[in-house]
Amino acid sequence: MRTLSARILLGFAALTVTFGVITASVVYQMTKVEEQVIVIGKGYVPLALGTKDLARRQEDLRNYLEERLTDESNAQVARMALTRSRNIRDRTLKSTLKTLETVEQLVHVDPRQFAVTRPTLVALEQAVAGVAPLYDDLLTAPPLGPEDVWDGKQKLAFEALGKLRNEERKLSLKANALSEQLDGYVATTTFRLEQNEQTLRLRTIYLGLAAVLLGLVITVWVVITLRPLRRLRDGARRIAAGDYASRIPERGPSEVADLAREFNSMGRAVEERERELVRSERLAAVGKMAAMITHEVRNPLSSIGLNTELIEEELLEVPNAEEARGLCRSIHREVDRLTAITEEYLAFARLPKPKVAHEPVNPMVAALASFVREDLAGKKVALSTELSSDDPIGLIDAGQIRQCLINLVRNASEAVAAKGGGRVTLRTRRDGDRVAIEVEDDGVGIPADVLPRLFDPFFSTKDSGSGLGLALTQQIVRDHGGDLDVSSVVGRGTTFTVRVPGARA
Ligand SMILES: Nc1ncnc2c1ncn2[C@@H]1O[C@H](COP(=O)(O)OP(=O)(O)OP(=O)(O)O)[C@@H](O)[C@H]1O
Ligand SMILES: [Mg+2]
Repeated sequence: MRTLSARILLGFAALTVTFGVITASVVYQMTKVEEQVIVIGKGYVPLALGTKDLARRQEDLRNYLEERLTDESNAQVARMALTRSRNIRDRTLKSTLKTLETVEQLVHVDPRQFAVTRPTLVALEQAVAGVAPLYDDLLTAPPLGPEDVWDGKQKLAFEALGKLRNEERKLSLKANALSEQLDGYVATTTFRLEQNEQTLRLRTIYLGLAAVLLGLVITVWVVITLRPLRRLRDGARRIAAGDYASRIPERGPSEVADLAREFNSMGRAVEERERELVRSERLAAVGKMAAMITHEVRNPLSSIGLNTELIEEELLEVPNAEEARGLCRSIHREVDRLTAITEEYLAFARLPKPKVAHEPVNPMVAALASFVREDLAGKKVALSTELSSDDPIGLIDAGQIRQCLINLVRNASEAVAAKGGGRVTLRTRRDGDRVAIEVEDDGVGIPADVLPRLFDPFFSTKDSGSGLGLALTQQIVRDHGGDLDVSSVVGRGTTFTVRVPGARA
């Protein structure tokens, strides 16, 4: 779930599943409604119609037996009418039973629903069969004349008529009850069908609404998921507008976080490139200035220095010229300072390609240490060395690297002196196929916001600093194919590490 594609895929999968569930549920509900329609249309309705017809036929027969039979004067006509009415009733009963069988075979019909219907119909059938001999007695007897002349058959027929009226009345009651029962079934099932149809409608509406809501939620979710891409676009625009320090948060789905990381490292590279560009432009400017200074300032400066010395010597013979001599000395100091600065500028202009040779590093560092130790001790800075025991050999221009180390030691001692005294350590060691020379101090340290500008030409935090020492040092080390690193903790001290190519021992 960390990747963007997985999140979007999950959103659409959820939507698809939801629509699948909704469709399945609606189809299921519709199937149920359809089943009920079949049960009503092919089951209860034909059966209800059948039993209604049966009840009517039964009623006709009973009616005939009880009322119209006695009014009929023609015995032949009466017999035919009775037989016809009876046959119609029997046929209707049979066809109703057949309808019941068909209904019971319907796939969607639960046979239990006819647990009462079937026995009632069967009982009716049996009762109808039971009264058949009575009809025989009635129909085979001669027409009933006056009662006193009746023979045995006529008496039997009279009794049969009485029983038949009784039996057919009972049958009528049963047939009517059955018909009403089936009417009741139709009504209840229709009611249930209506309910199901309503449930289906409501469910479809609710599920549809839920799906639309889910769709909206997923759309919002996808928009939120894709929002980090907008941050990326804005970051790219800021960098394009020249804000190279602009970075974007490395959060969000993994592809976006990866992209943000790559984007930020690109930003850092662009920023570094830009800084390098400014640096080299400044270095080029320094070169030009140095050439100018050589022509315009350095020579007059040295004659000013010489002349001041001459005046100072002349003043030795003049009495009470102490003040004038003091002024000469301060002129001389200023001239020296200006000369030192021009020397630094010139160092850039004249910086030759390093003439590398196999150079043992330890003796060079030791010589440098003893050269400056006394001077530093005067400023309460104790200089010590920790030289690698395996005597590393550097592929270096010893003169230039010595100049670098002097710059670094001078900076270190100034940082230590600013704290009122302390230690500076010069250390040598092998570092893979390179040689590392460290200048460590326990001085004031460098604030984090100063670190990136440290190697910029003209960057200095000192009143009298030119800000060229580290720029020059870095240039020399790079010309050797090496690099210059710094690590510092404010208040605890700083370590500069020069790494230059080493020769195999
Ligand atoms: N060891 C150190 N401890 C603390 N700050 C340092 C150290 N080395 C350099 N710096 C900081 O880096 C800045 C730049 O140093 P860099 O040597 O380029 O110029 P500078 O010393 O100011 O002047 P100069 O060109 O005369 O040496 C310094 O002004 C100082 O703030
Ligand atoms: Mg310096």
